Amino acid sequence: MAFRDLSKAERVALATQAIAERRSLIERWSDLQLPDALPWQRRASIVGPLLGDCDSVADLGCGVMLLRPFLRPGTRYVPVDIVARDEETVVVDLNQQPLPKLDVDGWAVVGLLEYLYDVPALFRALTGTVVTTYNPVDLSDRPRAENAWVNSYDTEGLEAVFAATGWRVVVRETLGAQRIWKLTR
Ligand SMILES: C[S@@+](CC[C@H](N)C(=O)[O-])C[C@H]1O[C@@H](n2cnc3c(N)ncnc32)[C@H](O)[C@@H]1O
Repeated sequence: MAFRDLSKAERVALATQAIAERRSLIERWSDLQLPDALPWQRRASIVGPLLGDCDSVADLGCGVMLLRPFLRPGTRYVPVDIVARDEETVVVDLNQQPLPKLDVDGWAVVGLLEYLYDVPALFRALTGTVVTTYNPVDLSDRPRAENAWVNSYDTEGLEAVFAATGWRVVVRETLGAQRIWKLTR
């Protein structure tokens, strides 16, 4: 049964178990379809232009690749995900494996940080320009385990991670309960 079809209690139990084992909840992602992802389209439409000064963009946790049409025409696009979304997808579990070495100058980390156990490690590995999003606890009171979110930063705490790993915030926007940041080294 798909994760979204489980009861709230079943989702929380599954997520709690995965968090205890520090494993990625791949069951949540294996059958992601466009209708599930459409609520994230507005976010993609904001993120794309923020990466407009990049010639090539790796989309970490690319999902159904909503971002791609919002990038500047001609931008080289590299989809990366824990699940092969097409034959081009670089498949990696960012909770288990290092960031792949990709020759890109921009990285989208959109709707992904909530599912990572070691967020600082990812930011230490990234280079160039990053646009990232997060549901911080100061804006979002959604129960985190129900969504299989494994961490719980507030805005200040996550921005402290950016600073400690060498990043400077050049844009910070708010979209509902989410923040969107553009970062440079
Ligand atoms: C909430 S969706 C966001 C999809 C897309 N970025 C968007 O905004 O439309 C999270 C995506 O991250 C991927 N993902 C989750 N955990 C991951 C992990 N540990 N390593 C790599 N990708 C992961 C999922 O497969 C899914 O496609």
